[in-house]
Amino acid sequence: MLSDNRPIGVFDSGIGGITVLKALRKRLPHEDLVYLGDTARLPYGTKSAETVTAYATQATRHLMGHDVKMVVIACNTASAVAIDPLTEALKPLPVIGVIEPGAKAGVAATKSGRIGVIGTEATVKGGAYVRAIHALMPEAKVVQAPCGLFVTLAEEGWVKGEVAEAAAKRYLAPLFKGRGAPDTLVLGCTHFPVLARVIGKAAGKGVKLVDSAATTAKAVETALAERSLAAKRRGKGKTRFMATDSPERFARVGGIFFGEKIRAKDVELVDIRPS
Ligand code: DGL
Repeated sequence: MLSDNRPIGVFDSGIGGITVLKALRKRLPHEDLVYLGDTARLPYGTKSAETVTAYATQATRHLMGHDVKMVVIACNTASAVAIDPLTEALKPLPVIGVIEPGAKAGVAATKSGRIGVIGTEATVKGGAYVRAIHALMPEAKVVQAPCGLFVTLAEEGWVKGEVAEAAAKRYLAPLFKGRGAPDTLVLGCTHFPVLARVIGKAAGKGVKLVDSAATTAKAVETALAERSLAAKRRGKGKTRFMATDSPERFARVGGIFFGEKIRAKDVELVDIRPS
């Protein structure tokens, strides 16, 4: 069987994509992973589709310079607004986004067919999740809410406590009031899983929270197998981190997302702007 030991490139606007990286690390222990967080230009979620596409194109081109065999867009905002131009720009490199895997997880979890989606303003406005869910389950009733402040809370490491709880309550109460409320909530932003506990509490008992991390890792595994691109090595793959600003901050807060310590000296500061 053919194999390919080049790394997989993983990209996000910041550290949120580390939730996807963690799932990749777990599912594909032998793969080398290169993660790039565009921390200098975060947030993407409040910016126009044109700006997000331009930034994401620069970031993924930078990953290509590291001889990656595949690119994972571990950012819902970039996946929602730029997956087509990115796929075109990176050809023939396979590009995997997080929207379809997230929609798949939502559809698999719902019993009532009523699904809530929360994400950044850009993700919600573009309607990519609604389309992806309806492609899998045409009868689904999808309600959405932008929750931009969750990105800031996650980047700040404020994942519990009164501020996070108040924000969650304010954002989610309108989605979950009355009969006919969703039984499933898709965390449509890679920053949100670290806030799962407060989000779950605000959504209410019995609401299933799903995100795209595990389903994206599965999609990557399938894509590698289909293209004979899986690594062939016995030992553990390496994980490399790059950020466009503040490696120290990236390491400190990124460790919360990764579930293990990241040392600042292991985060490389890179400039991805076109010269
Ligand atoms: N992690 C990005 C996402 O999944 C959002 C953060 C941002 O606004 O840049 O949508």
